[in-house]
Amino acid sequence: MSDKSGFPQVRMRRLRYHPAMRRLIRDTSLSASDFILPLFVRTGEQQRQEISSMPGHAQLSPDLLADEAREVWELGLGGVILFGIPDEKDACGSDSYDDDGVIQQGIRAVKDAAPELLVMTDVCFCEYTDHGHCGVVNDRTGRMDVDNDATLELLKKQVLSHVRAGADVVAPSGMMDGMVAAIRGALDEADAQHIPILSYAVKYASAYYGPFREAAESAPQFGDRRAYQMDPAAAAEQAIREAELDLAEGADMMMVKPALAYLDILRLVCDRFPGVPMAAYNVSGEFAMVKAAAANGWVDERAVALETLTAIKRAGAAAILTYWAKEAARWLAD
Ligand code: PBG
Ligand code: ZN
Repeated sequence: MSDKSGFPQVRMRRLRYHPAMRRLIRDTSLSASDFILPLFVRTGEQQRQEISSMPGHAQLSPDLLADEAREVWELGLGGVILFGIPDEKDACGSDSYDDDGVIQQGIRAVKDAAPELLVMTDVCFCEYTDHGHCGVVNDRTGRMDVDNDATLELLKKQVLSHVRAGADVVAPSGMMDGMVAAIRGALDEADAQHIPILSYAVKYASAYYGPFREAAESAPQFGDRRAYQMDPAAAAEQAIREAELDLAEGADMMMVKPALAYLDILRLVCDRFPGVPMAAYNVSGEFAMVKAAAANGWVDERAVALETLTAIKRAGAAAILTYWAKEAARWLAD
């Protein structure tokens, strides 16, 4: 037995007994600039609508969003990603491509308050449509479903409006086929060749998005998103196909979402496309579960959150979208 294992000559604990030794050989480190904070914009002034399932997070009117942007900039976060919640929703989500729409107001407020802060926008329709789906719906296929190609036309309008308002990066999240190519084409034609696309390339139909749908008031009014988001039980290689296609269409960065139940997928995609910066979305349900357990005194929130973020980084993420972004930056600073 001792022959095969190498024990007692080999003792892994020698690498761990001294704290400085552990620090010396540590490979994964987190910094504030790794984190992207999701923010929710609503209309009005001095409006702060708490999101009960995500303690500490709220829908903010543009003036309060501006305060948040200054704080985020001071903390040195990597950026923010904005989600708009319009006053009026309709069948095609027209507020999302209205130059005076809610997200456009939010983008301008953030840009005024913190001009150098990286502002990403979530490019999708579910927050803006009255039916809550990620595009226009019809029953062409014999069942109510999102019409892929009709949605692409509206996506182009949405992206151009976000960029006119000042978005630095656009992040399409609707899982429409061809969405990256359509958006790249529209941007290039509009002389916005410099705007990067962060594609939600590998996005699963996940129950972990539950709290987000309260935050964005975007729960589908009928059916679910399984006809466009990926099946959690699909072969892992399907993630490679999704990523490959988005890269070919012109994605600059890609995302795996959710993060924790899909770290195998994140690692797979990182290994397969070295040099392509990958992001991971530490989604609302992942955050809410820890908050709930911590509120009960069952886990130490700070320790669990930092361990979680470390694991996502270790799996290969260059950037992490997380509701802990501000707290984590503060924890790392002390
Ligand atoms: C919109 C979108 C969703 C999330 C990000 N963008 C919701 C969904 O697809 O239903 C989820 C984020 C989270 O749960 O934190 N398409
Ligand atoms: Zn959507």
